[in-house]
Amino acid sequence: MNKPLAHTPPMGWNSWNTFSWNINAELIMTSADHMVSTGLRDAGYEYIVIDDCWSEKQRVNGRLVPDKNKFPDGIKPVAEYVHSKGLKFGMYSCAGTHTCAGYPGSFEHEFDDAETFAEWGVDYLKYDYCYKPSAADGANLYKRMGMALRNCGRDIVFSACNWGEDNVHHWIRESGAHSYRSTHDITDNWDSVREIALSQLDKESFTGNYCHNDMDMLVVGMYGGSNSDWIGSKIGGCTDAQYKTHFSLWAMMGSPLMIGCDIRCANQVTKDILLNKDLIAINQDPEARGAYRIKVEPQWFHEDEAFVLVKALQNGDLAIGLYNFSDAPRELTVQFWDMGIPAAAGVALSLYDCWEHKEIGLFKERFAATVPAGDCVV
Ligand code: GAL
Repeated sequence: MNKPLAHTPPMGWNSWNTFSWNINAELIMTSADHMVSTGLRDAGYEYIVIDDCWSEKQRVNGRLVPDKNKFPDGIKPVAEYVHSKGLKFGMYSCAGTHTCAGYPGSFEHEFDDAETFAEWGVDYLKYDYCYKPSAADGANLYKRMGMALRNCGRDIVFSACNWGEDNVHHWIRESGAHSYRSTHDITDNWDSVREIALSQLDKESFTGNYCHNDMDMLVVGMYGGSNSDWIGSKIGGCTDAQYKTHFSLWAMMGSPLMIGCDIRCANQVTKDILLNKDLIAINQDPEARGAYRIKVEPQWFHEDEAFVLVKALQNGDLAIGLYNFSDAPRELTVQFWDMGIPAAAGVALSLYDCWEHKEIGLFKERFAATVPAGDCVV
C-alpha cells in the first residue's frame, strides 16, 4: 500500500494570487527552478500548482485541452519538468460546469478528467465550486471527484475549494478530500488576513490528518503585487510584521502552506518568513492537532483583539502564539493553567522564541510579552 496522502498539511506554491490568468509553461517551470534555488523545496514546499485559466474554452472529444498559447507542448512536459526538480505537480478544476474564470469544469466529467490528470502526471488537484448547478448537491459532487481520483491509478491530493459554503466542515472529510477551503478568497491586505483567521478560530476540531482546514493561499511577500486587481487583490499589501503574523497563524492553525507570491523575485524578508523552520515544524507536526484559543490577560481586551493560540505537539511540547490584532502595542500575558498546567504542581515551561530562534528561559505560572500592533510572538 502507498503511504497515505496529506498526513500533514500540503505545502507548495500556487499561481493564482499573483498571476491569475497570466500563466504559461515558462512561468511554471521557472517557478519550479526557484523553489529549488531559494531552498523552499528543501524546507518542505512540495507542490507547484497551476490554478484557473490553463485550458481552452472547449473540450475536444469530451477531454480537457491545455491552452495552445500558454502551454504549447501540453501539460505533460511541464509536469515532467517539475518532477525532475524533485517537486510535485498540481492542477485545478471545478465541481461545476465551468471554472470561476469560465473555462470548462468537471461536472459530469469527473472520471474522464481524473484519468486525464493521471495521464499528465498530476499529483494534486484543486477543485473549485463555481457554476455548480443549483440542484446538484455539493457534498455529492466532492464525493464523485473523490471517487474518481481514488480510482485513477495515480496518487492525487484532492484539495476541495468551496469557500466554506454549505457547512463544508461537517461533510468534507467523508468525501475523501485532503483539504478544504473554509473561507472566501484571501486578498493581500491585513483586513483580509485578520478576517479569515478570526473566522476559523474555534473550528480547531475540524482539521487534522488527511483532511486539513485550508485558509487559502499565503499572501506573504506580495506587497500589493497581484495580477488579479479585478477581485481587489491589489488593494493594500501588508507590512512585514503582518506577513509574519499571517504566516504564524496559518502555520499554527494547521492550514496548508501554499505560497502565493512571485517566488522568482521574493525579497529576503519574504524568504525568512517562508523558510522559518520552527513554524514549518509546528505546521507539519505529525499529529496535526488544531490550535485552540485562550484568553489573554488583562481580560479587558476583546478576544478578537488579542489572544493566544496553543497547539499540542506530538513530542509533548506546546506551540504558543501571542497575537495582537489591535492597532497599538499591547502587553499580553498567558496564564499557564489555561493550557492545562496547574500552578501548584510547580511545573515550569522552558520557552523558545520561534522568530528570534533562541531559548528565552524558564517560566512558571505565566509568560508576558509586549507585542507590537499586528505582530505576534510564537
Ligand atoms: C476561486 C478560488 C480561488 C481561485 C479562483 C480561480 O473560486 O477561491 O482560489 O482558484 O477561483 O478562478
